[in-house]
Amino acid sequence: MSATVINPRRLAVLASGRGSNLQALVDAGERGEMDGTVALVVSDNPASYALERAKKHGIPSRVIERKAFASREAFNLAVADAVEESGADMVALAGFMRVISPSFLSRFPGKVINIHPSLLPAFPGLDAQKQALDYGVKITGCTVHFVDEGVDTGPIIIQSAVPVLPGDTVELLSARILAQEHIIYPKAVTMIARGQALPPEKFLLRMKGLVL
Ligand code: GRF
Repeated sequence: MSATVINPRRLAVLASGRGSNLQALVDAGERGEMDGTVALVVSDNPASYALERAKKHGIPSRVIERKAFASREAFNLAVADAVEESGADMVALAGFMRVISPSFLSRFPGKVINIHPSLLPAFPGLDAQKQALDYGVKITGCTVHFVDEGVDTGPIIIQSAVPVLPGDTVELLSARILAQEHIIYPKAVTMIARGQALPPEKFLLRMKGLVL
């Protein structure tokens, strides 16, 4: 049996807010619990706590604000350039509140991943935990997936299920899901590094604009 080929990833993490998933990725990398490390943090929000976290760990960071650019396309281009300059070979969205454009994806085909606080394809978009509570599901969770041109729609890499408990609030449920997010995001990176999460061939071709 051939040994698993491990190709550790250099991650660019894009984050807009508190950055707890960034922290999970940084910690897992530093502890050798993930086949990858965080090489760059990019935020569109100068007040994002993700930037503090990067600083504490000596990780290069960039602030790229949407308002500095005339169009979404120009903003995406600047972020893609920053990722490329860093030498990162994987992009992890971690609470990044900007829509990634098709031209960004075509620069990094099959290399952009996202974490979402529901069991996709249920409850895509904003406030997934509230959507789950409002619907009345008894099980929800979180998903790491490859990013395609839709909102929370790309091929799924890993998921974790979380119970919805009697008396749950959005806050309680979100915290229960978040604990699982912090476990599965580093796991997804390791799966990719070990070739255990290859996106379907068609997906890769589509990302390259070769298939409709
Ligand atoms: C997480 O719930 C993640 O699933 C969603 O945005 C939130 C980001 O949290 N995409 P944090 O900034 O990583 O703490």
